[in-house]
Order: sequence, then C-alpha cells, then structure tokens
Amino acid sequence: MKKLKIHLQEKLPAPDTPRDYFSTLPRLETKRLVLRMASMRDAEDMFAYSSDEEVARHVLWDAHRSLADTKGYLRYMLRQYREGEPSSYVMVLKETGRVIGTIGFMGYDEENSSVEIGYSLSRALWGQGLATEALEALLSLCFGRIRLHRVEGFHTLDNPASGRVMEKCGMTCEGVLRGKVRHKGRYVDVKLWAIIAEDDHTCR
Ligand SMILES: CC(C)(COP(=O)(O)OP(=O)(O)OC[C@H]1O[C@@H](n2cnc3c(N)ncnc32)[C@H](O)[C@@H]1OP(=O)(O)O)[C@@H](O)C(=O)NCCC(=O)NCCS
Repeated sequence: MKKLKIHLQEKLPAPDTPRDYFSTLPRLETKRLVLRMASMRDAEDMFAYSSDEEVARHVLWDAHRSLADTKGYLRYMLRQYREGEPSSYVMVLKETGRVIGTIGFMGYDEENSSVEIGYSLSRALWGQGLATEALEALLSLCFGRIRLHRVEGFHTLDNPASGRVMEKCGMTCEGVLRGKVRHKGRYVDVKLWAIIAEDDHTCR
C-alpha cells in the first residue's frame, strides 16, 4: 500500500507554488540583462556595488565593508533558496557578463498570494532603464508562471527614483505609510506601490 502511494506521488506533476519558485528561480532574460540565481562566485562583483554608500543609502542593509560581508549576504541568499523563502535574483549585464545588482522578493504573504519586491543596482549604471527592464521581467514571472495576486514595493520618501521604476512598470502608488519601516536606526515614512493581477500590465 505504501509503495503504491509513493508511486502515485511520483506521477503527479511537481507543484508550482510560489515557494517552489523561491527555491529554483527560473532564469529570466531581457534585452540587456540576464536574471539568474546567485552563487558564491558572484561575491566580488556584488561587493563592488554593495560597498557603495550611495547604493546602500535607501535600502535596509548597510554598505558592505569587506568581501566577508558580501559572502555573508550571499550565504543568506543561498539559504533562502534552500528553504523556499523569498529570495532574489542577481542581475547580469549581458554586455560585460558582470553582476550589477539584485532584484527579487523581500516578503511573501501566502494567505493573500502577495509578494514584496526590492532591487538595487550599481551606481555607474543608474538612469539607463535597467531596473525598469528587470522589474518588468519579474512582474511577468509573478503574474504569469507564479500566478500571484498582488505585488508591492516600498521606498523611502527621499528615493523617488525607486517609485518611478515601479510607476513605469504599471504599479500604482497607494499612499504613504507613516513610520512603517525602521531604517538605519529610525522609523521612517514610506510610499507603497502595488499592482494586482487584474491591473493593466502594460509598462509605460
Ligand atoms: C532605484 C534604482 C534601482 C533605479 O535604477 P535605475 O536603473 O536607475 O532605474 P531606471 O533607469 O529604470 O528608472 C529610474 C527613473 O527614476 C527617475 N529618477 C531618477 N532620479 C530621480 C529623482 N531624484 N526624482 C524623480 N525621478 C528620478 C529617472 O529619471 C528614471 O525615470 P525616467 O525613465 O522617466 O526618466 C537605483 O537608483 C538604485 O539601485 N538605487 C539604490 C538602491 C535603491 O534605492 N533601491 C530601491 C530601494 S526601495
């Protein structure tokens, strides 16, 4: 009887739950970028931009002070993959083959089929539409293959570029959440942006 049960389970298709996707993020490709899972080999490229105070200014993490900090972060990313917890892609610039940033899932609300997204990018490449390109690909995955209901993102009020990225990808500003996030030692207001499955997903 036990044998039969195992046999039947093997015949069932693998479940495509969001947690399955967090474990095995499928490779995504855009015109200029490849989004893939991180590996420990990405440490040096990642350190190059994660050690920049300007990149770290608006995010929850502190600028990396040494390669050991970056390796610690990469180990965290790999653990998230293993455990099926919300995790991020590295963004690889096709032209150079270098890792230039991360984009992915910061949180997952299973009951409401909703994720929080986040991203950061090497300062030398800001203003070229790369984060927008990456977010478009991530949103297609979210509403296409993963079939999520809602995607949301936050940014501090002094980081309008991040809001603009979400706006260009069809997300709507839902307002300001006061004192929502503890950011570098103090509670700050953040703008909440979201898009739901029923929305128009055409990027502007
Ligand atoms: C936010 C970030 C990812 C944007 O990346 P990017 O590739 O430069 O973004 P894009 O080029 O796709 O789009 C940026 C948009 O913001 C606009 N922008 C830039 N600075 C701005 C400002 N001070 N005020 C308003 N808009 C601004 C740009 O003009 C552009 O809009 P446009 O195409 O209409 O001209 C990048 O600045 C970054 O990594 N910042 C540090 C980390 C971070 O803040 N992450 C987000 C945390 S919430």
